[in-house]
Amino acid sequence: MGAKVKVEFACTACGTSSPKWVGKCPGCGEWNTLVEEAVASSTATRQRAGMPDFPASRPVRLTEVEETASSRASCGIAEFDRVMGGGVVPASATLLGGDPGIGKSTILLQAARGLARHGKPVLYVSGEESEAQVKLRATRLGVTDAGIYLMSETSLERILSATGELSPGTLIVDSIQTVFSSDLPGAPGSVGQVRECAARLAFFGKKAGVSVFLVGHVTKEGAIAGPRVLEHIVDTVLYFEGEKGHPYRILKAVKNRFGSTNEIGVFEMRAEGLTEVADPSGMFLSERSDETSGTLVFPAIEGTRPLLVEVQALVSQSFLAMPRRTTLGVDYNRVILMCAILEKKAGVSLYNQDVFVNVAGGIRVDEPAADLALCCAVAGSFKDRVVPPGTAVFGEVGLGGEVRAVPMAEMRLNEAAKMGFSRVVLPASNAERLGVKFPLELLPVHHVKEALSRVAGK
Ligand SMILES: Nc1ncnc2c1ncn2[C@@H]1O[C@H](COP(=O)(O)OP(=O)(O)OP(=O)(O)O)[C@@H](O)[C@H]1O
Ligand SMILES: [Mg+2]
Repeated sequence: MGAKVKVEFACTACGTSSPKWVGKCPGCGEWNTLVEEAVASSTATRQRAGMPDFPASRPVRLTEVEETASSRASCGIAEFDRVMGGGVVPASATLLGGDPGIGKSTILLQAARGLARHGKPVLYVSGEESEAQVKLRATRLGVTDAGIYLMSETSLERILSATGELSPGTLIVDSIQTVFSSDLPGAPGSVGQVRECAARLAFFGKKAGVSVFLVGHVTKEGAIAGPRVLEHIVDTVLYFEGEKGHPYRILKAVKNRFGSTNEIGVFEMRAEGLTEVADPSGMFLSERSDETSGTLVFPAIEGTRPLLVEVQALVSQSFLAMPRRTTLGVDYNRVILMCAILEKKAGVSLYNQDVFVNVAGGIRVDEPAADLALCCAVAGSFKDRVVPPGTAVFGEVGLGGEVRAVPMAEMRLNEAAKMGFSRVVLPASNAERLGVKFPLELLPVHHVKEALSRVAGK
């Protein structure tokens, strides 16, 4: 008591600190993002604050570092393991963000069941719900393992000391915004508290060999609330997303120190919990109508898996001086580029047309391989032509209107054949290099103009 707490200011966007308050962050240039926080405590105070006394580190030769058999632990949910890069790496720290009510607590409770089966207990700390409320959800989900321990707690010191006593294999903290350390001033959820508590939990996990999962709230804009540095503190950042009104949820890794960030996991929310969707292509195409102009199926690759998605375009006459270009699920600049290519190289005049492009199902497609599908959808809507049913399109389009080869063509064709498609428009250079025969009518094209005439129906 009595120790004077030094206060400084930190940016909520980039984490830059400043000794005095300024309107514009010196780090990222954003306005009004600096908030007051206490300076991180000394080592002595940290130890007082419940951190176990780990031996001091010393430099070790790279060749002498013992390789731990870092066998990843499966959480029993294949889609979750895939997004994590093939299972949970021991002593790693993972941050899971997502909108309120999307199912963050649900998926972690379901994952806890699988993780508790690896011999060591799982400690699920909830700062938002009582043990009885978590139990209620666990019963609904059919999670009844004795290896799962519940604790309703928000004090970092008590969480750390309970974890030290129990020595679990996994610690789940739901959510990091509710945790506070009495060592720091500021309310739970303030920048300083969130950053320091997350850092201490991650550090503790690394030293004690405990995998740590932190649930993070998201801001109105969809970023994880609290400082951006939160994403630097952890090894993996996962986002759980879903469209309002749809039962489907997509789990994505936006950062992964131990695996690819391209993988996605697809789930369906049911009363008995989140179930894996084994056939996401079927799900994304389930509401598709073959009779609408301007829609097309594109065989995308998400990470290592093929996924058929529906690209939709709506082109209508504009009454604005600057016609509108609106995109959802695809890069805005890419659509502008494709519109310019269509205009110049394919004679589709869009200068007085509003163009709206959407990828159905709430999925995001960022591959250049989607270029040709975008062009065909926009031109299809402009000319009000319906693409014959059973047609899929992929290929990259260059500035000259030429259609270029894309990676993993065989995987895309396989998925299209599997889902019952009969014709695929693809880059000619890809078609020449195919090693196997596909039960599909292949329509190789060299130029975007050629592709438009190939897909054009009646
Ligand atoms: N009986 C039920 N039947 C079907 N779905 C349910 C049922 N109970 C809850 N759900 C689903 O679970 C969701 C809540 O899940 P969960 O509590 O895991 O979300 P969360 O992301 O942890 O939310 P928060 O941010 O508020 O903690 C609800 O939005 C609803 O979709
Ligand atoms: Mg929750």
